[in-house]
Amino acid sequence: MNLTINNLSKKFGKHVAVNELSCQFTNGVYGILGANGSGKTTLMRMLATVVSPTEGTIELNGANIFKLGDQYRDLIGYLPQHIGLYKNFTAEKFLLYIAALKGLEKKYALLKVEELLELVNLTHVRKKKVGSFSGGMKQRIGIAQALLNDPKILIVDEPTAGLDPKERIRFRNLLSTISGDRIVLLSTHIVSDIEFIAKEILILKSGKLLHKRDSQELLKEIEGKVWLVQASEREIPTYQTDFKVGNIIRTEKGVELRIINDEQPSANAIIAKANLEDLYLYFFEEDQDAAIAQV
Ligand SMILES: Nc1ncnc2c1ncn2[C@@H]1O[C@H](COP(=O)(O)OP(=O)(O)OP(=O)(O)O)[C@@H](O)[C@H]1O
Ligand SMILES: [Mg+2]
Repeated sequence: MNLTINNLSKKFGKHVAVNELSCQFTNGVYGILGANGSGKTTLMRMLATVVSPTEGTIELNGANIFKLGDQYRDLIGYLPQHIGLYKNFTAEKFLLYIAALKGLEKKYALLKVEELLELVNLTHVRKKKVGSFSGGMKQRIGIAQALLNDPKILIVDEPTAGLDPKERIRFRNLLSTISGDRIVLLSTHIVSDIEFIAKEILILKSGKLLHKRDSQELLKEIEGKVWLVQASEREIPTYQTDFKVGNIIRTEKGVELRIINDEQPSANAIIAKANLEDLYLYFFEEDQDAAIAQV
């Protein structure tokens, strides 16, 4: 299976949300990393054929997905960033309802719903109304509905928002397990969601695709640019003004700052091994506070 994006753009009036983006996906998990407003949702909505591009094409094995229409939609599962759930439906009823909308045969749907409730750990609350669910439970039922038709292409837009760490790990493993013979596209601005499971990471900034590489290759981008600096408490604001500062750790001697910078930020700075969190700060400095709060 080969999903190819050619020179894709989406404009809203004069605003360019996705800007001349080209890339290719084969089976496996792809993490789409970008700050707020970088175009992740717009890209995914085009991939799910919810909105059409202003320019460019998306092709599945050489055929335009908008021309394939339902033939393509039968192959995809989509979890929107903000999913509308039917509050008064029970979990089971909701999934059966979506299964009917997707045209699944009743007998098969009953089995599939049971299997998916188990997979997303909601069997025990299957008779409870969706409206009473926590954020994480809603997210999990959203994932279950996206998997109902056994999609060959799974598009999930910030699926781990609202999940606690345990649920996140569970979800990550789930995606990793099912990704063998599927294309899984996952958008996030939380680095740890994709650090270990993504075959490749796409870095999206202001609608442009900056990079599409595996995480190790991406880290080479910032090799030699991550520094540890011993400083005193009152030097912190100056460093924060002059540099991109990641973690600040208090030690017996004072503080240790993690700084991402092309050149050595001070004479006592030593090079540290870069991680994806550093990479995020490097690319999305303006979103620094959000990134730190989320990891
Ligand atoms: N329907 C729309 N009409 C006008 N502008 C839009 C519309 N949808 C998105 N945009 C704009 O396009 C840009 C990209 O938005 P998009 O929702 O794709 O970003 P995102 O990366 O998903 O952000 P977030 O992390 O907040 O979900 C933003 O500037 C947004 O305001
Ligand atoms: Mg979004």
